[in-house]
Amino acid sequence: MSRALPVPTDHALAVRSMFGRIAGRYDLLNRVLSARRDVAWRRHALGLWQGQPAEVLDLACGTFDLAREALEQKKARRVHGCDFCQPMLVAGAKKRQGVPVSAAVGDALHLPYADSSFDGAMVAYGWRNFGDPAASARELLRVLRPGGQVLILEFFQPVTWWPKTFSATFGRFVFPTVGGALAGDAAAYRYLNDSIKRFLSVTEAEATLAAAGFTGIRRATYFGGVSHALAAAKPC
Ligand SMILES: C[S@@+](CC[C@H](N)C(=O)[O-])C[C@H]1O[C@@H](n2cnc3c(N)ncnc32)[C@H](O)[C@@H]1O
Repeated sequence: MSRALPVPTDHALAVRSMFGRIAGRYDLLNRVLSARRDVAWRRHALGLWQGQPAEVLDLACGTFDLAREALEQKKARRVHGCDFCQPMLVAGAKKRQGVPVSAAVGDALHLPYADSSFDGAMVAYGWRNFGDPAASARELLRVLRPGGQVLILEFFQPVTWWPKTFSATFGRFVFPTVGGALAGDAAAYRYLNDSIKRFLSVTEAEATLAAAGFTGIRRATYFGGVSHALAAAKPC
């Protein structure tokens, strides 16, 4: 396959380097900052998929938590993890041992896969970082087979009272304090809250998926709207 490697943007370089710095502490921080709710959200979100997609892409797979969960729930037979940050893939390498999960370095905006490669494609807490949500939605559609399903878990821009309050208090003060103390990188956890505030709202995200060509969009809401899952399908 000859898809020329793109020159990374400043945004992509900054995001990749940031995840590279925190990779070794990434899982710990997820569990602490969400009081382990992130595990339950990934588990529940996979329930939005119908049937058992065979070949599944886990884009922005990080340390493979969603890949493992999909296999445990029999929501995939084989998972192809893809992330542009090698240290995240290395940090999660043990979770791939003995299970059908592969790992590849690749960019969400130029996926290193042929058209119609997968029956399912999932992204947990990665879409916000991609720089161009519409272009990455079109890439996800491209690599899915007709009838294939997409699943996106994300922190969308807070627009209602509780998620806004959570972001203005816990997100603003606790994320960087705990990120500084446990990962030695307050700036990375400041970026977490800032990137959420700058991202699409959940309704804008649904419109973006529809504009890319996805149909049958379904939504699940977690922790009063702090996090959401969206599922949809590529038309047959
Ligand atoms: C918040 S982590 C999520 C990791 C994992 N999916 C999870 O649920 O824990 C975001 C991941 O997106 C990856 N990422 C960000 N931008 C990307 C891009 N343009 N292409 C591929 N991966 C990207 C980062 O390297 C990082 O591993």
